[in-house]
Amino acid sequence: MAAAKEHSNWSSKWTFIMAAVGSAVGLGNIWRFPYEAGQGGGGAFVLMYLGFVFLIGTPVLVAELSLGRRGQLSPIGSMLKIAKEEGRSSAWQLVGWSGVLGSFIVLSFYSVIGGWTLSYIIQSIIGAFDGITAEAAGALFGTMLASPVTMILWHAGFISLTMFIVAKGVEGGLEKAVTILMPALFILLIALVIYAAVAGDFAQAVSFLFKPDFSKVTFSVALEALGQSFFSLSLGLGSMMTYGSYLKKDTSVGKSAVIIASADTAVALLAGLAIFPLVFAYNLDLSSGPGLIFVTLPIAFGQMHFGVIFGALFFALLVIAAITSSISLLEPSVSYLQEKTGYTRKKAALSIGFGTFMLGILTVFSFNLLADFTFAGMTLFDLFDFLTNNLMMPLAGMFMALFMGWFILRKNLLEELAMTEKWFKLWYFLVRFVCPLAIGAVFVFLLYEKFV
Ligand code: PHE
Repeated sequence: MAAAKEHSNWSSKWTFIMAAVGSAVGLGNIWRFPYEAGQGGGGAFVLMYLGFVFLIGTPVLVAELSLGRRGQLSPIGSMLKIAKEEGRSSAWQLVGWSGVLGSFIVLSFYSVIGGWTLSYIIQSIIGAFDGITAEAAGALFGTMLASPVTMILWHAGFISLTMFIVAKGVEGGLEKAVTILMPALFILLIALVIYAAVAGDFAQAVSFLFKPDFSKVTFSVALEALGQSFFSLSLGLGSMMTYGSYLKKDTSVGKSAVIIASADTAVALLAGLAIFPLVFAYNLDLSSGPGLIFVTLPIAFGQMHFGVIFGALFFALLVIAAITSSISLLEPSVSYLQEKTGYTRKKAALSIGFGTFMLGILTVFSFNLLADFTFAGMTLFDLFDFLTNNLMMPLAGMFMALFMGWFILRKNLLEELAMTEKWFKLWYFLVRFVCPLAIGAVFVFLLYEKFV
């Protein structure tokens, strides 16, 4: 009896960790991290990113997961319920609102990039990368960007896959598949790093990524690094809050958060080590932005033995990693809609999915028809990305930290987190002082840098 119980605890813990790692590891690590690091000047960006992940992101992850476990509702419902229980203002539900709205916006562009990834599976299979030059890889990507119809179709494909899985419920087949496919992606990434080390300029890549050049640090780079750490850990959008409700009382939130953050960071660093040796070897543009992996990796796949297979496999596994993230982006609004209207899961997933599909069309157009339509120098995609990644996510995370640090009774926290005294003290100090002050400081200094 005891043994059976232990086993079922272990397996549900594992399921939770896999789901949360699945949410964290996605396009953020493999598509976004390298181009952000490239644009942010390399080492100093990476160092700030690592600092933010472990000193701010991980404690906020603990906060977000435990809010979900305590609330057991959608992010809006949970925040409201906990605020009431603690005798606090109902305005705290705004944190949940920001999450639901933010996850809707992020999903709208995430799906467009997921669509690029889907289309690259096919490109690889039909041999479009065979012996491709850097120039031709750029042109291939450019052709896709120039065609709104192609992009909309792939975007529709990606969002449909996401809707379908959420409508069916996350348990079951997908989770089983993920326990095999996520490690497979990890192994393939390591193989790519080895390939890049042999075929590319590894020394220069390592020095670019890990030798900080502090002359490149500005507060806008710091904000990018902060935003990237939140994006990569799936923070501030209510996704982790929703997943926190799967968490059993006897699972340690602290340990889980450290595992999630470590796995997530490892994948991002591996992606950097796979991409940059090639970027340097082929003299590609470090700051080419969102297209970076789509113009770099095809060159590698086009030259290696069995590149067609490796290329197709890599982009397929990346799609799967992206889908385990996009389902967690659809979850907050679906759970809210269900809570509010009593819709079935299927109906809620289809409605929200359709909404994000429509909004995503604006991101598609921002790369072609509306490329010249800018707002403060940002295209619509840049604007959506900036709003969510640089504003909503860090600010919501800051308020979650403040809420837990100052507005919930210490006794209730101790009971919820069940950490040892030493770890609790460290976490409490980080959420009360370090997280809010550091996030606040980045914003204040950024405004100072921009306007004074
Ligand atoms: N963390 C995911 C990624 O890196 C994206 C994501 C952000 C998912 C926020 C959920 C919430 O791809």
